Amino acid sequence: MYVCICNAVTDRAIREAAESGVRSFAEVRRRTGCSDCCGNCEDLASQIFHDAVARTSTLDLPLIAAAA
Ligand code: FES
Repeated sequence: MYVCICNAVTDRAIREAAESGVRSFAEVRRRTGCSDCCGNCEDLASQIFHDAVARTSTLDLPLIAAAA
């Protein structure tokens, strides 16, 4: 679904950013243009991003443990 109507940014694009290693919402904004116009999407976009980072980080734990 479109999260940012101004710049046609989808929830999928935000999740893909998190999965590719982006760890700040400012970087999501820079890469996608999300929330850089009216800002109405920022709360939802930020929530989607932080949820995706938390899920991605959880998925990384076994890899970190295996490397230790
Ligand atoms: S809806 Fe995202 S900046 Fe306007």
